[in-house]
Amino acid sequence: MAKYKIAVLPGDGVGKEVVEAAKIVLDALKLDAEYIYGDIGWEFWKHEGNALPERTIQLLKETDCCLFGAITSMPKEEAVAELDKELQDKGLIYFSPIVKMRQMFDLYVNLRPCKAYPGNPLNYREDIDIVVFRENTEDLYSGVEFHPVPDEVRQALDKHSPAMKKFAGAASSDMAISLRIITRKSAQRITRAAFEYAKKTGRKSVTLVEKPNVIRETSGLMLREARKIAKEYPGIAFWEANIDAMCMWLVKNPQDYSVLCTSNMFGDIVSDLAGQLVGGLGFAASANTGDKYGVFEPVHGSAPKYTGMYKVNPIATIFTSKLMLDWLGETEKATRIEQAVIKVLQEGKVRTYDLGGKATTLEVAEAIAEKL
Ligand code: IPM
Ligand code: MN
Repeated sequence: MAKYKIAVLPGDGVGKEVVEAAKIVLDALKLDAEYIYGDIGWEFWKHEGNALPERTIQLLKETDCCLFGAITSMPKEEAVAELDKELQDKGLIYFSPIVKMRQMFDLYVNLRPCKAYPGNPLNYREDIDIVVFRENTEDLYSGVEFHPVPDEVRQALDKHSPAMKKFAGAASSDMAISLRIITRKSAQRITRAAFEYAKKTGRKSVTLVEKPNVIRETSGLMLREARKIAKEYPGIAFWEANIDAMCMWLVKNPQDYSVLCTSNMFGDIVSDLAGQLVGGLGFAASANTGDKYGVFEPVHGSAPKYTGMYKVNPIATIFTSKLMLDWLGETEKATRIEQAVIKVLQEGKVRTYDLGGKATTLEVAEAIAEKL
C-alpha cells in the first residue's frame, strides 16, 4: 500500500492542464502515493445539479489530502440557466465547491505564500517574502444571507440595533443582508496558526490586518484575540494594520512585511494584491488546511479562454504541490520542487507566455521535473 492516498480533482478548463503538469513533477519525485481522481465542477453542475457530488465528498473522506485544479463558477441566475432541462425547475442553487469543501472539512487556514523568486521577471521587487494567513470558514463567506429579508429577521435587527433606523424606509424586498460572522474560536485559531508558522520558520513579524475602527465587533474580536495570543510569542513582533492602509503599504513597502493574518474576505483581497507583487496568478499557490485534512489549490481559476491550449503557467500548481508536500511532512521533496523551479526561472529558457516565453504548460513541468 502506498504511504499516501491523494484525491486529485482537476476540475474545469485549465484546471485539468495544470494538474496534469503538477503530476509530472510529483511523479518525477517518486512520491509514494496513490492518486485517486474525482469529479468536480461545471459538468457535474450542469448534468447532476451538483458541482461537488456526494461521491467526491466520500473520496475526500477516504484520502489524506486533495490536490485541486480549478472550477468555473457563475452568479446564481446564470448558473441555473446552464442546467440540463430536466433540472431547471428543481430550485437548485449553485454554490462554490471550494467554499463548501473549506467549510465541510473545517479547513480554517488558507495559507498563501507570496515570495519573489530569483529569476522571475515579473517580481515587483526582489526582496518580497510575504505569507498570508487567511481565516477560511467564516466572515462574509459564512453563507448566512437574506434577500428579501424575512420579517422576523428584520424585527429582531430593528429591536437590537439602533443603527437599523436609517433603513426604516426600505422595503424588506429591496434589501439584502450578508452577515459577517466571526467566532472567538476562529479568531484564535487563525492567529495561533500564523504565529506558530512565524515561530517555526523564523519570521520576525505577524501583522493583523482588519478594520476595527469601523467594523467594531467582528474586526474588534479578531484584534483582541490576536493581541492576547501575540503575548505568547514575545520573540515575534506583532503589528496591527487596517486593510485599506495595508493595501497601500504593500504597494509602497512590501519588503517590510512577513506574515499577514486576517479574516476571510480581507484575506481574499489582500492575497490577490500580494500575489501580484511576485508574478500574479501564474505563481500564486494556496493551501486550505485544518487539523485533519488539506485541500491544495492554485489561486487562479479555470481560465475558459485558455482551455485546451496548454498555455497557462503551471508553476502556481507546482508550488501548490510543494505546499501539499510540506503539509504531509515531506520537507525534503518540497524543497527540491522549490529549488527546481528556481533553476528553471533563472535559466529563463522554458517559460510560458506570462513570462514572455512560448513554452507550453507541460514543457515547463517537464523542465522543472528534469531539474529535480
Ligand atoms: C480564492 C477564490 C475563491 C474565494 C472563489 C473561487 C470562491 O477567489 O480562492 O481566492 O473567494 O475564496
Ligand atoms: Mn480570491
